[in-house]
Amino acid sequence: DYELRIGIFGAGGVGKSTITIKFTHNIFIEEYDPTIEDEYIKEIELNDKKILLKVLDTAYPEEFCDPFPRWVEFSQVFVLVYSIIDKYSFGEILNYHYKRIKNILNVQDYPKILIGNKSDLFTKREVKTKKGKELAKQLNCKYIETSAKTGENLNQLFYEASLLAIQE
Ligand code: GTP
Ligand code: MG
Repeated sequence: DYELRIGIFGAGGVGKSTITIKFTHNIFIEEYDPTIEDEYIKEIELNDKKILLKVLDTAYPEEFCDPFPRWVEFSQVFVLVYSIIDKYSFGEILNYHYKRIKNILNVQDYPKILIGNKSDLFTKREVKTKKGKELAKQLNCKYIETSAKTGENLNQLFYEASLLAIQE
């Protein structure tokens, strides 16, 4: 039996918890409740094998007790999430999450996927799809737009992440 560990990273309010809970429990959480740290488990099938998927739902680390390095150690694959209606969260991927993970792992590259979430709110879009694709190219990874509200592309997200994790 396989166990795969996926870490969900990104700025506050981009939908990390909502994505994770919608995928693991098929529930959409409407209200915003900031996370400290949570772990979710879901059994999936990949290439006819039963796999235990462990999803670590992270948050913005507090100054004093910094759990970020431990989150990085846990993760085999990194899901980097921004919100398409929040330009700031897009900038944070490169400025903060991507770099910090790279520094902690002390490697040239690591397995990851870039996610533009809240695709259902396209009328309020601040980050064009083209921008997401360009950043993914720069980071050497896939780009997927998701909606934790409609569930759009969530299966694809966790399928691609699991495929990357299984190669680790
Ligand atoms: P922190 O835990 O503070 O880091 O935030 P988070 O990234 O976990 O965000 P969270 O999942 O709590 O979502 C924040 C708010 O955005 C909630 O009110 C969600 O209902 C909403 N939300 C998340 N994803 C989507 C989405 O795809 N579409 C829409 N319409 N709302 C979303
Ligand atoms: Mg959260």
